[in-house]
Amino acid sequence: MKTLRDHIAEAENKHTALGHFNIGNIEGLWAIARAAKAVGVPVIIGVSEGERDFLGVRQVRALVTSVAEQLGYPIFLNADHTYSLEKIKEAVDAGFDCVIIDGAKLSFEENVKITKEAVEYARAKNPHVLVEGEIGYIGQSSQLLETIPPGVALDPASLTSPEEAKKFVSLTGIDLLAPAVGNIHGMLKGGDEPSIDVKRVAAIRGEAGIPLVLHGGSGNSDEDFLKAIKAGISIIHINTELRVAFRDAVKKSLQDDPDEVAPYKIMKPAVQAMQKLVEQKLKLFSGLS
Ligand code: G3H
Ligand code: ZN
Repeated sequence: MKTLRDHIAEAENKHTALGHFNIGNIEGLWAIARAAKAVGVPVIIGVSEGERDFLGVRQVRALVTSVAEQLGYPIFLNADHTYSLEKIKEAVDAGFDCVIIDGAKLSFEENVKITKEAVEYARAKNPHVLVEGEIGYIGQSSQLLETIPPGVALDPASLTSPEEAKKFVSLTGIDLLAPAVGNIHGMLKGGDEPSIDVKRVAAIRGEAGIPLVLHGGSGNSDEDFLKAIKAGISIIHINTELRVAFRDAVKKSLQDDPDEVAPYKIMKPAVQAMQKLVEQKLKLFSGLS
């Protein structure tokens, strides 16, 4: 069976990207798994520290394994944005396929230190676990935003530079790198997300020498995604748009039938709405739309 590393390499060769979607409940997992199978591409499920606290670390691992086995399908599990070594260890020990150590808010030196420690722990425990590192602050949560959060790197001088990317990769030994290239976590209520600096993506990919991950995919245009993939992005993260699809569908479901009390009936339209969204994104990312 192909590993996540194999699928990423394959996507890079084909100039496509893998989709990474976060879940906070089993409805999200079924929606994403069915969408991936319908489109015919592998997929990565992400769970942030908060999402893991809610679902249970070992429990979400068991759920994803069970659904992947049932569908006979490559579905991988990532410990998204992890801020401490303890929580990295917990995810590696639980058998996650990938972990992200997020030191983007730390100084470069502190970020190198914690990221290197995460890589060392993961390698010693399981050589198949991929470790992703981050440089450049792009905001912290998948929510609807009034304005761009303070401190987000958007001007050319504060985006990730190709030189620091190269240095960071060689000092830490990470497998994947998440840069700040005009992307932001969350989605602006008024629309008009900043565009991705694709020239910067290409320059970072060249210097870093490892696959790049684009975070904060909600709100970006299809054109931007296609250009970013062409420039060297191999994985794209989407969360806020999925949360909005879930919220809107649950709200409508409750409004349409206020007397319905069966959770699986209330939630069914939410699963369908999320599946539809994930299918659209996966087709786009894999050059099928
Ligand atoms: O790690 C998760 C993401 O980067 C999601 O970002 O909520 O802007 O789609 P988003
Ligand atoms: Zn992210």
